[in-house]
Amino acid sequence: MQRVNFCFAKVINFLSEGYQNVCPGSGVAFGYTSCFMPTDKDLQVSENLIELYSNQQTLFGRGSIDRLVPLLAANPQPTLLFCGRSFLNSPAWARLGATLNDHILGYEIVSHEASPDEIDGWVTRWRGHVDRVVAIGGGSVLDAAKAFGAMMQHPLNIARYLEKVGDTPVQAVTLPLIAIPTTAGTGSEVTQNAVVTDQQHIKVKASLRHPVFVPQVAILDPDLLKGAPDRVLATCAIDAFTHLFEAYLSRKGNLFSQQNALNGLQLFMQAWPYLNQDDSRGDAAREAMMMASWLGGVSLSSAGLGVIHGIAGELGAIKPFHHGEVCGRLLFPFLDVLAESAHPEQQRLMAALAERLLPDETAPPALALKAWLQQQAIVPFWLEGPTLAAEEVDWIVARANSKNGWVNYDPATLTEMITAAWRVV
Ligand SMILES: [Fe+2]
Repeated sequence: MQRVNFCFAKVINFLSEGYQNVCPGSGVAFGYTSCFMPTDKDLQVSENLIELYSNQQTLFGRGSIDRLVPLLAANPQPTLLFCGRSFLNSPAWARLGATLNDHILGYEIVSHEASPDEIDGWVTRWRGHVDRVVAIGGGSVLDAAKAFGAMMQHPLNIARYLEKVGDTPVQAVTLPLIAIPTTAGTGSEVTQNAVVTDQQHIKVKASLRHPVFVPQVAILDPDLLKGAPDRVLATCAIDAFTHLFEAYLSRKGNLFSQQNALNGLQLFMQAWPYLNQDDSRGDAAREAMMMASWLGGVSLSSAGLGVIHGIAGELGAIKPFHHGEVCGRLLFPFLDVLAESAHPEQQRLMAALAERLLPDETAPPALALKAWLQQQAIVPFWLEGPTLAAEEVDWIVARANSKNGWVNYDPATLTEMITAAWRVV
């Protein structure tokens, strides 16, 4: 391996200021420390600095939601529940609802990605009355509760603190949050950001982010996935895949984040074909996917994401499409682009991935992965679907970016990916 210009001062710079450099050898924006031009056989030496934030307590296992009431009872506090309507119709609620009601002040129903106005409204209603938050639901529910808990400890409206549009740094304060996902996809139960979406006024999908916003407790009960519609299982799962895959391919990554991501990808592949089965294989699949999703959250927090989320974040600002489905639709054209990549790091990482996850495949790794994902899917969610207008495509491309990928994709490539994912009318 040839190593060029490692400079300790740059590390210090990064630690204090988020240093960015441009690697003259590759011509791509390069993060943090030095510039590498690896040869095929080289082992990668960890140079990027990876930080891992996680829950103070993570409970994992079938039936683990039954630990919620004892947890609340052990430390009585005024507690607000955020949940989705589907949870109120679930067997878990039928079993726990009456007892849980004795430990909460009230609840808020979240039915879609929360807007800044909704978060501000909840804060106005509950400020001064709530000391703890419980969230049971999909990513939208967990993110709404996470944003609510943080904003309960901040004086201004949430828009002032959002990335992209805010003008005020968040403080390291929030309410304790117990996060219980009922879908396996976003990994929000372990991430430090809450996504807030405003499609009406300012047309932005942006995060509220701080390490202290990581939920204090995550309860990962794979049985909560049971009975979810196939399309929900598949589109949430492909979001988890995309987190793991983009974090794995990130230029911010190192051995630590890459191995976490590979573990998650391996679990994903064990689970993907069997998510909807009503037998022990299905139970094992849902258990594996719940863990893959959590590892996806850990991985994206550590190493960041790539072009798929760089597009999805902008598309989500103007279209009410399911985030996981958006990522899944973009994933397939991205794999086509990746198969053509001459970037040495992308090639090295894909070869290592194939060696571990697709050892018997002879096709190029990205194409083999695409074929496997499509052949093994429990529902072909990418076939039919909504359309985009040509001006919407242009709006998205003008704002999208490649996030932490090794390659900064040009507008033509971004357009190609979007028009492969949705029919443009
Ligand atoms: Fe995502």
